[in-house]
Amino acid sequence: MLKRAPRDHAHSAHAPAYQSGFGSEFATEALAGALPIGRNSPQRAPYGLYAEQLSGTAFTAPRSHNRRSWLYRVRPAAVHRPFTPVENSRLLSDFSNVPPTPPNQLRWDPLPYPANPTDFVDGMVTMAGNGSAESMTGCAIHLYAANRSMSDRFFYSADGELLIVPQDGRLSIATELGLLELGPQEVAVIPRGVRFRVELPDGHARGYICENFGALFRLPDLGPIGSNGLANPRDFLTPLAAYEVREGSFELVAKMSGHLWRADIDHSPLDVVAWHGNYAPYKYDLRLFNAIGSISFDHPDPSIFLVLQSVSDTPGVDTIDFVVFPPRWLTGEDTFRPPWFHRNVASEFMGLIHGEYDAKAEGFVPGGASLHNCMSGHGPDADTFEKASAADTSKPVKVDATMAFMFETRTLIKPTRFALETSQLQNEYFECWQGLKNQFNPEVKS
Ligand SMILES: [Fe+2]
Repeated sequence: MLKRAPRDHAHSAHAPAYQSGFGSEFATEALAGALPIGRNSPQRAPYGLYAEQLSGTAFTAPRSHNRRSWLYRVRPAAVHRPFTPVENSRLLSDFSNVPPTPPNQLRWDPLPYPANPTDFVDGMVTMAGNGSAESMTGCAIHLYAANRSMSDRFFYSADGELLIVPQDGRLSIATELGLLELGPQEVAVIPRGVRFRVELPDGHARGYICENFGALFRLPDLGPIGSNGLANPRDFLTPLAAYEVREGSFELVAKMSGHLWRADIDHSPLDVVAWHGNYAPYKYDLRLFNAIGSISFDHPDPSIFLVLQSVSDTPGVDTIDFVVFPPRWLTGEDTFRPPWFHRNVASEFMGLIHGEYDAKAEGFVPGGASLHNCMSGHGPDADTFEKASAADTSKPVKVDATMAFMFETRTLIKPTRFALETSQLQNEYFECWQGLKNQFNPEVKS
């Protein structure tokens, strides 16, 4: 059990184990006086702790983007036996050698739960992605389905930060910097390099992961929206310091360039007693997203639902957008209210966390996924088109039981061989548009 900070160290109106803010300069200690004052690396840190810096951006990154934290810990992260490679056919971090990406619309049923005891790390499988971890651009999209907690096993990814989107079952994520507890409709980001283990309070858990190889996720600018709205910074929660001192026989698993490595370690690496800085895990409740939309007619582009972005070198063109479609009122008068038919230069991987998605009558179920790549035509299915074309738009209607999301990227999202060959792939997905018949009549205008 991790030892948490005493209650009076909680700088948050939320649960006492968290501090709120996005990328803020946090300071937290699980033992009073463990955090050095005035020096990051004093000659001797308090209580015999070691000082260690963990940097998530280049040293010389502009101050507004610069992310690093100082950790005060029982042993430095360097203390472990050498890593040796682990056989791994499920994870990928380089998408230059996957099969050719078909221009077809693709959709999958949920990943089934494993038959054998499988933890969070072994339960991950790569569905798609682009770029490569080595070039530090692009992302990998994984699914996970697990039914065993990690207790003596710890994991980190050197390839990217992990945006975890639970769909079923809660996750208790004990990290070096503190404990994150989250469930479906919440998301968490574990920074590149941060070591953690995942326990499953419900005995099973399933969801989605976007592993971001590029610029760290940040909150988007709001432009004409103003100073509030979408995801508000105060709703992002970072754990207070929490640590454990455990000696014994443990395993440290590292992901580097898509390969897994393991090392023996004779203690728990979750031994950070105090830390300060702005490079830390965080979580966010998607139900707190302040959705903004039209109050006249039409509806804006889906960028209005942007939660987090990984920016590229080209202004306005993100490497990854994390977009959420939460419950919301539809008010557009004389408007086709579901998402319109479209083809985009961007590529879209969608998942459904809860309920139904308003562009599809059936087939897209919680835990499932769809992929519409660059310029692949898609949009509402025939049933949804029929219904929405006849709907009374003089009154607002609420899209209620729903929580869908999208990982949208500037470059092709290339499905892996696993994704193209799995029996979860819905080969009949194209049928949902075949009912859209020619209804053109040059004699009748409306
Ligand atoms: Fe789309």
